Amino acid sequence: MTTTTETKTTAPVATIADIGKHAGETVTIKGWLYNLRESGKLLFPIFRDGTGFIQGVLHVKSVAPEVFEAVKHLTQESSVIVTGQVRAEARAKGGYELDVKEVQVVEKVPENDPYPISLKEHGVEFLMDHRHLWVRSSRQASILRIRAAIIKAARDFFDNNGFTLTDPPILTPAACEGTSTLFEVDYFDEPAFLTQSGQLYIEATAMALGKVYSFGPTFRAEKSKTRRHLTEFWMVEPEVAYAELDDIMKLAEDFISSIVQYVLQTRRADLEAIGRDITKLEKISAPFPRLQYDDAVKMLQEGHAKGLVEHKFEWGGDFGSPDETYISSQFDKPVMIHRYPAQVKAFYMEPDPQRPELALCVDVLAPEGYGEIIGGSQRMGSYELLRKRIHEHNLPEEAFKWYLDLRKFGGVPHGGFGMGIERAVAWTCGLEHVRETIPFARMLHKIYP
Ligand code: 4AD
Ligand code: MG
Repeated sequence: MTTTTETKTTAPVATIADIGKHAGETVTIKGWLYNLRESGKLLFPIFRDGTGFIQGVLHVKSVAPEVFEAVKHLTQESSVIVTGQVRAEARAKGGYELDVKEVQVVEKVPENDPYPISLKEHGVEFLMDHRHLWVRSSRQASILRIRAAIIKAARDFFDNNGFTLTDPPILTPAACEGTSTLFEVDYFDEPAFLTQSGQLYIEATAMALGKVYSFGPTFRAEKSKTRRHLTEFWMVEPEVAYAELDDIMKLAEDFISSIVQYVLQTRRADLEAIGRDITKLEKISAPFPRLQYDDAVKMLQEGHAKGLVEHKFEWGGDFGSPDETYISSQFDKPVMIHRYPAQVKAFYMEPDPQRPELALCVDVLAPEGYGEIIGGSQRMGSYELLRKRIHEHNLPEEAFKWYLDLRKFGGVPHGGFGMGIERAVAWTCGLEHVRETIPFARMLHKIYP
């Protein structure tokens, strides 16, 4: 630690986000140097402290020579404790500037080994390899604040609506969403798997507590490189006893609406800073359009006839990313597609009594081509049918005995859904790729840093 000048004043410590409350006062800010501009006898350092950015001003004649010299030679991302007077400045981003009086350099970045991310453009590969530093940039910091707001809104929604948080295990003996994307670990010489979803376990806690939810990391060994897939992501999942598919769809639209409203209320400045078209988010309020799978297929086939969809989609298949993108771009609100063919969905879904080849399930596709952000369903009620499905899906019945028990001891219609936080963040922020939605993305061939 190199201390250039000691902080002599006892000015109160302020955050840049709250700087407006201190107009005219002398305050201390603890942060880092983001950028430095020099113009004759003036220095314009830009400081950041995690809550925001503020430009400082130093005139060679208005500060002690050693303070001027210290700032003049500051290197990008050096840590500094700065004391100065807050001045309203209409032309400044954020509305204030800081007339710097004193500077304490906490740690100076060496001139011969400078901060690797300069303010010029870098390729995304380079930035991802320096993700531990990239998170300091203003755009990435805004995205992380919006992510935190989405998580808070999700938890508040359930906490305020009679749900109890119940945490499912991460190490599990069996698959939830199919065996193809399991990460296997050695559990004291027994095979175990990282959870793909907490659902099966919160079905059990829903039978104990009525309305429950979980929020935690989930894992999928996704071998495909897409802009929507991570191998480690965070899922929030509600599960409700005595709920049918319609109840689940209503819950999903209320849930999404409340999240978007909260982000608009609390993180508008961050949305603006990253260039999000806010008018699009302002349209997001329940109810959402509902579309049966059959009708979504017709929409794709008509799109194909008009030359807007490349391949001819056949009834019975699952939608790929381009299909979801096309369907979701037809609406300016999230669209809820329900009743997919059971054959393309997980083993645990209740069949539609009218047409048993369909599952009572719903996928919520976000607008602007973002595709699926929520997957959910009513769960299978029949013990015998569930046992049959477990076998058809080549799952080991032994590992699912406890799950079958839930259909034996006071089973009730029930259901729920899962929302991937990163997909929700990508859509809310209007991002190209989910890799920027989480502090440290885990993807195919990507585990550093
Ligand atoms: O549709 P999924 O596979 O559904 C389930 O896991 C159910 N067990 C949830 C439930 O009913 N409780 O996944 C749910 C959501 C998807 O809609 C998507 O938002 C996200 O999880 N998701 C992923 N996000 C990032 N990367 C991946 N590889 C994801 N896979 C799913
Ligand atoms: Mg899904």
